[in-house]
Amino acid sequence: MTSFPNEPTPAMASPAELRALIESRRAVRRFTPEPVPDAVIRDCLELAVLAPNSCNLQPWSFQVIRDPALLAQLHPVCMSQNAARAPLIIAVLARPDTWRQACRNVIEQWPEAEVPARIRRFYSKTAPFQYNQGPLGLLGLFKRQLVRLMALRKPLMRKPNSKADMRLWAVKSTALAAQNLMLAFQSHGYATCPMEGFDEVRLRRVLDIPRQAIPIMLLAVGRQGEKSVYNPRLRFPLEQQVIWR
Ligand SMILES: Cc1cc2nc3c(=O)[nH]c(=O)nc-3n(C[C@H](O)[C@H](O)[C@H](O)COP(=O)(O)O)c2cc1C
Repeated sequence: MTSFPNEPTPAMASPAELRALIESRRAVRRFTPEPVPDAVIRDCLELAVLAPNSCNLQPWSFQVIRDPALLAQLHPVCMSQNAARAPLIIAVLARPDTWRQACRNVIEQWPEAEVPARIRRFYSKTAPFQYNQGPLGLLGLFKRQLVRLMALRKPLMRKPNSKADMRLWAVKSTALAAQNLMLAFQSHGYATCPMEGFDEVRLRRVLDIPRQAIPIMLLAVGRQGEKSVYNPRLRFPLEQQVIWR
């Protein structure tokens, strides 16, 4: 995972192959009971965390749930929806709370013998200033006013400067990891269904989710069952959603 290409990478999948993979993924709501091998799960998680992410602080975590007793507990938490009867559910959590440790990790785990000075400076000074919102978000409030003044003179990145900004910050990167995860399972021949249809309070209790973590999706995974795709694919025409300038 320490790939550091200095040359443009040759295309690994043809546009047609990538299109076929993306087009073949559908939200699948019925699965066979066949378990998903741990080796497949691990491979897919490795690809999930290769997702681009803000400042490489990797603000996500995952709970891999295969235990039948725990899966049975999750089913009612997901309002008993069919998709939640999968043999595997992965809870995808955004972590606005892990940036401080992640800054330390980048320096400690830097994949070269010497940590470049610019990296050390960024992760020990710039990033902590950027992401620390202080107790009750008060530092964020101060930074908002500071940025407003400084931005009168030159363009400045204005966020994240509040606890809410931090949640959005973490969710963006984590959603990209979730998509990688779904496509990775698809490439192994396993179907998925992302679910936000769950009772968050009960979910937090059942999975013992840390208070500051945000469960953005539960990912149901398994071999596709019968009558498992409910509707034909529908996407709005690009013309309704894209502006070319
Ligand atoms: C954030 C998110 C939450 C979703 N939650 C549910 C859900 O709780 N239950 C469900 O059956 N499908 C859920 N879906 C699946 C969507 O309904 C589905 O992706 C959409 O209808 C488009 O269909 P397609 O994925 O087959 O193209 C969710 C999708 C996303 C991205």
